[in-house]
Amino acid sequence: MKRFLKVTGIVILVASAVSFAPVVLLYLSKEPAPYTNAEMAERLTANRGDNFRFLVFSDNHAGLVLSDSAALKMVRSMNREDRFKKIPVDFALSAGDVTFRSSKWDFHIFNIIRSRIKLPVICAAGNHDDDNKKVRDIFRKYCGSNEMSFTDRNSYFIILDNTITNITEKQFSWLETELTKSSPYAHRFIIMHKPPLSPYQQAWYRSELSAWPYRFMKLCERYKVDIVFTGHEHMFKESSYRGVKYITTGGGGMPMDIPTSDGGYHHYLAVRVLGDYVDLEVRKIFPPLWEYLGYYIWKDLFYTLKSVFL
Ligand SMILES: [Fe+2]
Repeated sequence: MKRFLKVTGIVILVASAVSFAPVVLLYLSKEPAPYTNAEMAERLTANRGDNFRFLVFSDNHAGLVLSDSAALKMVRSMNREDRFKKIPVDFALSAGDVTFRSSKWDFHIFNIIRSRIKLPVICAAGNHDDDNKKVRDIFRKYCGSNEMSFTDRNSYFIILDNTITNITEKQFSWLETELTKSSPYAHRFIIMHKPPLSPYQQAWYRSELSAWPYRFMKLCERYKVDIVFTGHEHMFKESSYRGVKYITTGGGGMPMDIPTSDGGYHHYLAVRVLGDYVDLEVRKIFPPLWEYLGYYIWKDLFYTLKSVFL
């Protein structure tokens, strides 16, 4: 028995070390030249046909070792999406918080992680991406414009910056112009960081107490937006209001405190457009073993005990 426990302990220790190794190699990697959202959107203009897929992730929070280790696992899974060669995967979207504290180091690491994704990646800005006021315009350097629209095949995509938890009058005007321009397209998608309604009632985020969510959601309803992709809350949550889907997909790497059973798990989305129809699958990512043993197993144990005793 003693020998069995010893061998089991060594196996777990070695497996944990192996699960930690990719993030060490990441930190030793050379950074490629950054690219902008516009450069990647340009690549999509040659795509033809109305059947395609795209991936969505958010809140990878590069620069924090826990986030980076989990994000690398997610990237490995994303890169296998095309293995059946059925419907092309055109690109990946991030709904923001690409960095932990928007330092040069964070963007440097984000740039390497992004380069590991074998797809063009287009990013919205999150509130963590302009935390560091000493490094001005660093998001522009690494990702380009924080607001833009682009098209791919039969679909229109709008990237909106609501990192200040508001949408200004000027932004509403721009958004409505973009939605009008999108009318000849079969589908329209909006990507922004903060959800208009809080996806988790027990969390601190309370966007619905402001005026912009109602106005924004009415616009989405009127212009028949298919899906609004957001992050910010580190969880998965899908809601539907008056024909528009609102998806919070903040499971791109950042450690999560929301119970796993309520959506607090790492994941990304595989969205499929088949002519007039759109559907999606959630790809859950099991945390790297060292993170699971060091944090997630205890998180779930805490919530289990809480539900037993309270
Ligand atoms: Fe975040």
